[in-house]
Amino acid sequence: MQSIAEIYAIDCKKILGEIAMGEAAPRAAAAAVQLSRPQGSSRPAGSSIIDNEAELTDIVVAAMAGAPSPRMREVMEALVRHLHAFAREVKLTEAEYDLGIATLNRIGQATHDSHNEGILFADILGFSTLCCLLNNGNAGATETAAALLGPFWRMHSPRTENGGSILRSPTPGPALFVNCRVLDPTGAPIEGVEMDIWHASPVGYYENQDPQQADMNLRGKFLTDAQGRFSFRSVKPAGYPVPTDGPAGDVLRAQNRHPYRPAHVHFLGYREGFKTLVTQVFVDDDERLDSDAVFGVTEHLVGDYRLHESGTPPAPDVTAPWYTLDYTFVMEPGEAKLPTPPIK
Ligand code: BEZ
Ligand code: FE
Repeated sequence: MQSIAEIYAIDCKKILGEIAMGEAAPRAAAAAVQLSRPQGSSRPAGSSIIDNEAELTDIVVAAMAGAPSPRMREVMEALVRHLHAFAREVKLTEAEYDLGIATLNRIGQATHDSHNEGILFADILGFSTLCCLLNNGNAGATETAAALLGPFWRMHSPRTENGGSILRSPTPGPALFVNCRVLDPTGAPIEGVEMDIWHASPVGYYENQDPQQADMNLRGKFLTDAQGRFSFRSVKPAGYPVPTDGPAGDVLRAQNRHPYRPAHVHFLGYREGFKTLVTQVFVDDDERLDSDAVFGVTEHLVGDYRLHESGTPPAPDVTAPWYTLDYTFVMEPGEAKLPTPPIK
């Protein structure tokens, strides 16, 4: 079985390969760019001897210009220019440079099959949400149903009958009955969407963090019916702190930020012909709804988790209070593509 590190390494090579293969420019033209010097330089074309700090960025960019893929050149040039501009703007000290490199190394070292510090670090910087908003809802112009994936999605959650329960071991807490629809942008139901669900327990732990819970507790995969509906039974999740024992936790503490996420249920909708929908629906009575440590809450994703204190419960073994959540998702036409699983 491959480890998460191996899965990531293979994915990276594949994506890098795809970027590098994109619209190959003639090698001769690329090589000509590679040989150029920054304007005003006294050195001959092709020399990468550095005369001063000001010309370094252009020399680095020129050295990378031989990449045949225009996309590779665009992304790497912007990365280098912004990285250099950042160091110049804050006048980065050598001690701060060392800290930055050590932090990158620690992020890698803290990542393993059951924890993904890289995603967590991107999350607390708002970078995951930025990427999500840039790639959904008309590049951020309109409201979107999408939200960050987070580090706790696992592939292969158990296929569960529509209306079934995702409790796989005793999990005390108020019962929650979720009824959802999945529609296309014209309002037509989408049948056959695989909807993957995962959420934290009423005490704020995912099953992979908690020896008290059975494997795959509070996780399940459903298939929408002809009306685009799926439903399931669970327990109301609680908010929880993101893991704080690595570099992400150090940054949160250094910035006097709390580590909590407001309570939510994650959804991942997959069907050929539609852009895979990764999202979360937040519990509206959570006290930290407006201070999510990872900036995942948008207005659109605040659910109506309705409290029922009396009446006929939806199942004979349920006693009041219980909650219901009704929610409608819209999936855009596009490419169906599963994310790289952050953990195993
Ligand atoms: C989550 O919702 O599972 C999550 C997202 C970002 C950081 C930590 C957890
Ligand atoms: Fe979560």
